[in-house]
Amino acid sequence: MRISRSFIDELMVRVDIVDLIDSYISLRKAGRNYRALCPFHNEKTPSFNVSPDKQFYYCFGCGASGTTIGFLMNYARLSFVEAVHELASRAGMVVVYEQGLAPASITDFDDLHEVMQQAAQYYKQQLRQSTTAISYLKKRGLTGEIARDFGIGYAPAGWQNLLKNLGSDAETEKRLIKTGLVKEHKSGRHYDCFRDRVMFPILDQRGRVIAFGGRILSKSEHEPKYLNSPETPLFQKSRQLYGWYFARQVRPLQSIIIVEGYMDVVALAQHGIHNAVATLGTATTRDHLKHLFRSLSEIIFCFDGDKAGLKAAWRALETVLPFLQEGRQVRFILLPQGSDPDSLVREEGKQTFKNRLTQAIPLSKFLFDSLMQQVDMRSIDGRARLVELAKPLLKKLPTGPYRDLMLQELSGLTHVDLKKLTILIQSEIPQKPVIKPKPFRPVESVKDLSPVYRAIVYLLHKPDLSQLVDYPNKKLSTINKPNLKLLLNLIEFTRMNPKLTLGAICEHWRGTDDEQIINQLASLIIETHDIDDDFRGAIDKLYKDDESQRWAELIEKGLEKNYTAEDR
Ligand code: UTP
Ligand code: MN
Repeated sequence: MRISRSFIDELMVRVDIVDLIDSYISLRKAGRNYRALCPFHNEKTPSFNVSPDKQFYYCFGCGASGTTIGFLMNYARLSFVEAVHELASRAGMVVVYEQGLAPASITDFDDLHEVMQQAAQYYKQQLRQSTTAISYLKKRGLTGEIARDFGIGYAPAGWQNLLKNLGSDAETEKRLIKTGLVKEHKSGRHYDCFRDRVMFPILDQRGRVIAFGGRILSKSEHEPKYLNSPETPLFQKSRQLYGWYFARQVRPLQSIIIVEGYMDVVALAQHGIHNAVATLGTATTRDHLKHLFRSLSEIIFCFDGDKAGLKAAWRALETVLPFLQEGRQVRFILLPQGSDPDSLVREEGKQTFKNRLTQAIPLSKFLFDSLMQQVDMRSIDGRARLVELAKPLLKKLPTGPYRDLMLQELSGLTHVDLKKLTILIQSEIPQKPVIKPKPFRPVESVKDLSPVYRAIVYLLHKPDLSQLVDYPNKKLSTINKPNLKLLLNLIEFTRMNPKLTLGAICEHWRGTDDEQIINQLASLIIETHDIDDDFRGAIDKLYKDDESQRWAELIEKGLEKNYTAEDR
């Protein structure tokens, strides 16, 4: 059975090529794109480029190029099917195989975003009408202003509020279920997931509501204090951070504080500390860290000082170690027992809390202090034990100055020779995958291509150019040129799906007769100042060529009496 083409289209919308490639090789931002040393050939200066806009990678050095799927196939050596499954699992999707005809257009989850937006609106409006919810938030010290900034709302008691207020037609019901706002009971009845709770909308990078966290107003033994939206097509909690949409707007954003709860983020913001985010009932994940370190260089973890907090801090330390390359910094704050950022910042105010931030403990100190507490540093045995304990941790560090400094520190503490420690750590480092370089392919100039190919190249790089062409277009479709059919198909496809990227389009053509042409054209570098103009130029040239060809044919036919009615 084949994987459904429309599923792949959808998958291409959901995965991000920067995220993917960055999880294999470390990318650095360079303008709109990301850059790295090319993993497909040996080089000293980076010429490997990844474009988030086009969802495509390209190496100026060796000409390697492709999509997310292509990268997994070439770099990780996966088969096509394996690559699709790998991407799907990253995106939290289940691979769909072809059964009969696939739907023609591609969802961008617009319908789900819309229903979330409506629900958020409804909850906000309900908060205005609920004196109990308002007084709860006031009691917790929130101002109306901060509640508005964070879009806080209230889900009233009752089982059918959303269905009653957002619409109970089959389509809305389906969307409400897909977003996890409404659940289906065994009996087949549908009911609201959030009831009588203060609602914290969780926003994605672009500020769209993708999930909610709901807090009960008073203690209950039967209900959890916080209820979060389940994992849905819009929401994967291991990738999202509460408050990130607001925090990333801080300029300059040098550091981020990771706290534990919704209320911590909101309270800190209310006190002028806008760079805090919270994980959503999970530990900090590698995805979180990857994401954050792409935009900033320092993370401050803020945990309770109790046993659970310490354990969480240690777990965060272990997760963050592989990310500690040069220029990055991680520090820890352990709060007094029984306090959290919310209660502390309200008690002691902004300045005192900020002092805590400046006094946060560097990761290196936290690491060695914690380990030294477990051994007797006065004895040789104890110091040897310290080396043993530190070894698996330091091994997680990437090679580079940071690791060198940590080894020096360990050497200083234990009096073990630095060279010996270095060898000890390096002995078991896994080998990098061996990658066969692709043969160098010279770059052709787009300007030398035929008008059909030129039009295709421009369309691939800017799919919404297809809006400039009338479609269906009788004149264009009668033109007799090689690959004109491909151009027409591409125009039709991009008109239907103007948001798709270059990468997604390539994947759509995978396995077809035109796959190779599309890929070759996609990997060309366009040097143009006005792509719209160049595209129009290519189309005009097509018309003109066609016209002169027709003239030539007519002249060849010779005498006018040979002309058909159409010729005339
Ligand atoms: P806390 O219990 O520390 O809550 O949970 P908090 O943020 O201090 O909340 P308030 O101040 O009592 O309102 C921290 C985080 O753990 C998750 C939530 O994301 C919460 O913000 N959590 C907690 C749950 O998901 N479910 C729960 O039942 C409790
Ligand atoms: Mn709290």
